[in-house]
Amino acid sequence: MTEDDASHRIIADLLAARTGQQLTESRRWRVSTALSGLFRELGIENVDQLACLLERPGDFQLATRVVEALLNHETYFFRDHAYFDVLEKSVIPELADRRSEDRRLRIWSAGCSTGQEVLSLAMIFAQDTARWADWDIQILGTDISAKAIAAAQRARYSQFEIQRGIAVTQMITFFAEDGGGWQATDSIRKFARYAQHSVLDYPPMPSDFDLVLCRNVLLYFDTTTRRMAFDRLASAVRNDGLLMLGAGETVIGQTDRFEPAECGSGLYRPTTLAPRTALRVA
Ligand SMILES: C[S@@+](CC[C@H](N)C(=O)[O-])C[C@H]1O[C@@H](n2cnc3c(N)ncnc32)[C@H](O)[C@@H]1O
Repeated sequence: MTEDDASHRIIADLLAARTGQQLTESRRWRVSTALSGLFRELGIENVDQLACLLERPGDFQLATRVVEALLNHETYFFRDHAYFDVLEKSVIPELADRRSEDRRLRIWSAGCSTGQEVLSLAMIFAQDTARWADWDIQILGTDISAKAIAAAQRARYSQFEIQRGIAVTQMITFFAEDGGGWQATDSIRKFARYAQHSVLDYPPMPSDFDLVLCRNVLLYFDTTTRRMAFDRLASAVRNDGLLMLGAGETVIGQTDRFEPAECGSGLYRPTTLAPRTALRVA
C-alpha cells in the first residue's frame, strides 16, 4: 500500500463511519475533485497532508467539513418524472382514500438533499388546493448533511437549479424571482419540515409515515449497511404504507422487510413476514 492509498483509506473510513457511504476504488477520483475547494481554502496540498491532519486527535470540525465535501447531493425537481406521475395519479389518491377519515398524510423524504424532492411532492398537493383544503399534510425532509438541510430550509434556488425538472408554469406559480434566484413561496413551503438525520438512525416518527422516499441514497452503502437502512425505513412506514426507491435501486436480494408493490415504479410495501423490531425513539 502506498502512502497515497493509506491516506485515501483514512478518508474513505471517515466517510463510511459518519454516513455509511463507501468510497469504492471506482469512486476514488471523486476525492481530490470534491475536496479541491477545501484544499484551496485551508492551504492543503494533497490527500496525504489531509490524512495527517485528520489523524490529529480532536479535529472534529475538519472531519465534518471533509465528509460534507464528499457527499453527493445531486438532485433536481421531479427527478425520474414517471415516478412522480405514479405518485400523483395512483399512489397519493389511493393513500388519501385509505386516510379519508382522519385526513392526515405523512411523507418522509430520507436523503432529501437540498429540498427539490420535498418541494416536488409539495407541488402535487399545492396544485390542487380545493382537493386538499381540509387535510393535514406534512412532508418531512431529512439528510445527514447540515449544509444540504440549511439549503433546503432556505428554499432558494439558482437559475440553473430551478430549470432542472420543473415546468415553467410550476416555476412561476410556486416560486418568486428574487435577485437572480428563485424563492419557493409559502404555497409549497407550508408542507415542508426539515431535520438533519441519518437514515441509519432510528426514524424520526416510527411507524407513522404513509409514504417514504429514499431515492439515490443507498446506492453506495455496503450490503450490511443497506440492510440496516431498510430495517430503519421499515420501522418508519405504516403497515399499509409504501417505500419508493430511485430508478435502478431495488429491495430484491437486499432485505426481507419490503417487497415490490403491484403499482410498480420503484414502489415497495413492507412485508408482514419479518417481526418489527422494538423501537427506541431517537
Ligand atoms: C444523490 S442525493 C439524492 C437526493 C434525492 N433523494 C434525489 O433522489 O434526488 C443523496 C443524498 O443522500 C444524503 N445521504 C448520504 N448518506 C446519508 C445517510 N446516511 N443518511 C441520510 N442522508 C444521507 C446525501 O447527503 C445526499 O444529499
